[in-house]
Amino acid sequence: MNQIRAVVVDPTASGRLAVRNVAAPSAGGSEAMIRVRAISLNLGEIRRARAAQAGWRPGWDVAGVVEAAAADGSGPKAGARVVGFLPVAAWAELLAIPTGSLAAIPDSISFEAAATLPVAGMTALYALGKNGSLLGRPVLITGASGGVGQFAVQLAQLSGARVVACVSRAERAKYARDCGADEVLVGNDPEGASRFGPYHLILESIGGKSLAAALSMLRPAGMCVLFGTSDTPEVTFDARQFYSGAGILYGFILFDEVKRESAAQGLARLVSLMAAGRLRSPIEVRGSWNEIGKFAERLWNREIAGKVVLSID
Ligand SMILES: NC(=O)c1ccc[n+]([C@@H]2O[C@H](COP(=O)([O-])OP(=O)(O)OC[C@H]3O[C@@H](n4cnc5c(N)ncnc54)[C@H](OP(=O)(O)O)[C@@H]3O)[C@@H](O)[C@H]2O)c1
Repeated sequence: MNQIRAVVVDPTASGRLAVRNVAAPSAGGSEAMIRVRAISLNLGEIRRARAAQAGWRPGWDVAGVVEAAAADGSGPKAGARVVGFLPVAAWAELLAIPTGSLAAIPDSISFEAAATLPVAGMTALYALGKNGSLLGRPVLITGASGGVGQFAVQLAQLSGARVVACVSRAERAKYARDCGADEVLVGNDPEGASRFGPYHLILESIGGKSLAAALSMLRPAGMCVLFGTSDTPEVTFDARQFYSGAGILYGFILFDEVKRESAAQGLARLVSLMAAGRLRSPIEVRGSWNEIGKFAERLWNREIAGKVVLSID
């Protein structure tokens, strides 16, 4: 049986992740075979890998080169540089990816930069689109030093919003500022953020007090898009403050959102912004996938602000 290398959960390895041999993939009619050159890490898949059984294969974000185009003629041709998104098991040197989850990338965009776009970039893109036009409207983004957060601040700024960003600690404020935030608040301080509200849209990924504060800062028909609970899912809030603003709480899961607008479309939008120099990848750390366990530990321990990208070597 043909074998390839892939990242698997190995409870004996550093960070519970290691590169091992697995069965080679075969492509369905609407899938292209991709030779992967770079992958990116997300907090969500690291969290899952920490609890998963031995042998489970994580991974969502990849960039590489089409080795064989899809048999049905859809999608990029052989030799094209692409970025791709899979719901699981994407961290491998060779992958069959549905063409509806692939977008071509120009030579001006590195594989590393492109690999950061799928989960972090698409989450920011789709979440910001949930409540209509942002032109001239106040938008609050929590977790703004993270991968999603740094993309979201940039994209909200591009959309014409007045962007208020929350970061958890002072030394991380510069990340939100560098992305173009109009105001940066430290410590998810409800009082501080309310000075610039009430908000048309809030992107919330912290949970606990941060989510409680978000729910009290919406303007009428404002929306809080909840896509993460990095601190805690437990929330106590005064429900009267929420419904007096007649706001909306939207539960966001990227895997559902790509059924509304395909990953191919979302990625193509992000790639065009990046190619035009209007969106930059918030890469903080580069390395080799042979050390993925070490990098996963650092991300989990909140030592990294922004994206980790690893090359396949
Ligand atoms: N629903 C979905 O489809 C979806 C999609 C993408 C992401 N997510 C979730 O969204 C969250 C953000 O993802 P990401 O990839 O951007 O993660 P990330 O790069 O690790 O960023 C996490 C952000 O949250 C902050 N944070 C983490 N723990 C915190 C805590 N205990 N208290 C306060 N702030 C805390 C971090 O602040 P520091 O800089 O201080 O560490 C950072 O700004 C994750 O929980 C992820 O699972 C969900």
